[in-house]
Amino acid sequence: MSRRILVTSALPYANGQIHIGHLVEYIQTDIWVRFMRMQGHEVYYVGADDTHGTPVMLRAEKEGLTPKQLIDRVWTEHKRDFDSFNISFDNYYSTDSEENRELSESVYIALKERGLIEARDIEQAYDPVKEMFLPDRFIKGECPKCGAKDQYGDSCEVCGSTYAPTDLLNPYSVVSGATPVRKTSTHYFFKLSDKRCEQFLRQWVSGLAQPEAANKMKEWLGEDGESTLADWDISRDAPYFGFEIPGAPGKYFYVWLDAPVGYYASFKNLCARRGLNFEEWVKPGSTTEQYHFIGKDILYFHTLFWPAMLEFSGHRTPTNVYAHGFLTVDGQKMSKSRGTFITAQSFIDTGLNPEWLRYYIGAKLGNTMEDLDLNLDDFVARVNSDLVGKYVNIASRAAGFLIKRFDGRVSAHAMQAPLLEQVRAAAQQIAVYYEGREFGKALRLVMEQADAINGYVDTVKPWDLAKDPAQAGALHEACSVCLEAFRLLTLYLKPVLPATAQAVEQFLNIAPQTWQDIGRALSADTAISAYKHLMTRVEGKQIEALLAANRDSLQAGAPASDAAAAKGKDKSAKTAETAGTAGTAKAEKTEKTEKAAATTGKTDDGIVTIDDFAKIDLRIARIVDCKAVDGSDKLLQLTLDVGEAQTRNVFSGIKSAYPRPEVLVGKLTVMVANLAPRKMKFGMSEGMVLAASAADEKAEPGIYILEPHNGAKPGMRVK
Ligand code: MSP
Ligand code: ZN
Repeated sequence: MSRRILVTSALPYANGQIHIGHLVEYIQTDIWVRFMRMQGHEVYYVGADDTHGTPVMLRAEKEGLTPKQLIDRVWTEHKRDFDSFNISFDNYYSTDSEENRELSESVYIALKERGLIEARDIEQAYDPVKEMFLPDRFIKGECPKCGAKDQYGDSCEVCGSTYAPTDLLNPYSVVSGATPVRKTSTHYFFKLSDKRCEQFLRQWVSGLAQPEAANKMKEWLGEDGESTLADWDISRDAPYFGFEIPGAPGKYFYVWLDAPVGYYASFKNLCARRGLNFEEWVKPGSTTEQYHFIGKDILYFHTLFWPAMLEFSGHRTPTNVYAHGFLTVDGQKMSKSRGTFITAQSFIDTGLNPEWLRYYIGAKLGNTMEDLDLNLDDFVARVNSDLVGKYVNIASRAAGFLIKRFDGRVSAHAMQAPLLEQVRAAAQQIAVYYEGREFGKALRLVMEQADAINGYVDTVKPWDLAKDPAQAGALHEACSVCLEAFRLLTLYLKPVLPATAQAVEQFLNIAPQTWQDIGRALSADTAISAYKHLMTRVEGKQIEALLAANRDSLQAGAPASDAAAAKGKDKSAKTAETAGTAGTAKAEKTEKTEKAAATTGKTDDGIVTIDDFAKIDLRIARIVDCKAVDGSDKLLQLTLDVGEAQTRNVFSGIKSAYPRPEVLVGKLTVMVANLAPRKMKFGMSEGMVLAASAADEKAEPGIYILEPHNGAKPGMRVK
């Protein structure tokens, strides 16, 4: 039965460029959307720029533009980037739209009528020169703990300690340099502490698809009956770029109030153009589905504030929220100085194929909130081996003979070959993985099919058959099987590689494929077109150029102050603005703790902070295979299951202790899962297992692999 589905990705801030971190989310959503469309469902995928707030206002001023001019320019850039990566939005809109103003106002008025809005006076930091209230991120000063200069109002990037902006020594406004003063003003609050909200949210979060997300929300909600939810400050004082609050002159909706409403505004705009009934989708009890794809950093906005806003303003609530983890590059946070803060535009401008990134990210994605790493060596290896070596290779091996010898037509009889039945049979499991957002598993299964097909080619050896005219029938059969298998692989890969799939459809002279076409084989009546190379290999030097392009942009472009701010740039708006005096106390704390964990806690004497330790991702691993390495008298090669889609390959210098490697097979151990992969003479090592040995190994030989107590499972975190 065809389902009716509205899908969104988080709305990117209009004060920065789209980078590969963002792309994780848009690629994830787009793969899912394209898959669901291929299933024949009625799917609408909407997005928009998140335009309001202090950072946009100040940035425009700095660039000598009006906020409107800035957001219009950024919208064009974002749209260009999404188009380059084939993100198939049905509508890409802006939160600075009339639809959004009306919807935000009506949500607010409805909440007010339900008695869920309260005015309250609060005291805040104020810049007396610029005459504006200052979000925490716009106050700097000396760290109260270590005295480091130019630290933000919430935490010190030098010593890692966290504090309140009022603790800073010699504070100054980043905007004007003036010393902030305290000033009182009236703010409006959404009363999340109200019993009705608490009750509703408790029930709502239990329906979250991801157990990790549900647990996190339960933590935020606190024990039953003693909710720890604080009221949410939804207003900001002028000057502010946003929507003025009805009946409250000089007060504006805080950007996070109108941002999620922007999903609906974008959809409403689409409905008007497509003749769809918007109300039918957003009314309580609607039979349509609504999914939000987001990053884990904005979970509570989507699983607390947004559902509560919807519920108490007379709307349906989201069917589910799907959160993903954060992208690192070569095991580290993206960094401008290393050139790993890779913008979408630079990726295209350097001549890299966006489908390479779509594939790599897809292959790394599961349905959890776990972080994922773009390892640049692995990126090159994976794309070249999977896409070029395994997939495209099948077509290039078969197409030439078919065109030269058989008029470009397949043999109808070959379409029933057992190998093809096997490839078709994989469709169901692949579909289950796609729908469950287990893209890594889906792609692995597709590549297993590719392996089987290549194995078939190696066995039947078309190039040998071609030498013998008596074998023409066998050659025709072999090439036909290959090409039909290639069609099926292309269909399976289509949500991930839409542009390649389209090129293949032209090459095979077939209509755009949907999931239904699995059972429909290539027809002997239609000749294929001449084979054009479908995808090139990634070259190492392209990666170097990519890093250089992103390193250069820092030196050439941004002024020094921007460079310093770049670190937390895209999160700054949130950190700054959620940390209002009466923000959600718990959420605020979590955000700060997370931020502190990301900064380096430098201490003397080789002592590390808990935050340093937390960077090491220790996991329980099952040794699924273990063998000696030819040519090495020190190493064993271990295959480890760490609960991920794919097993890990690790080389470990423990051979002397385990002369019979097979005794380790099946055992559990502990591994460092986020160690940067290392290329070794014998292959890539993707982590490290932990083992004990004496300080003086000569005097007291012996190496002992760590083993957890009973009950531990692969993938569990060790901390
Ligand atoms: N404007 C808000 C969202 C409002 S939604 C009503 C925002 N914008 S953002 O530009 O900072 O981020 C947009 C999305 O990209 C978020 O879901 C965020 O989690 C995601 N990512 C930003 N950097 C990322 C990584 N490095 N890795 C993975 N996702 C990342 O938040
Ligand atoms: Zn400090």
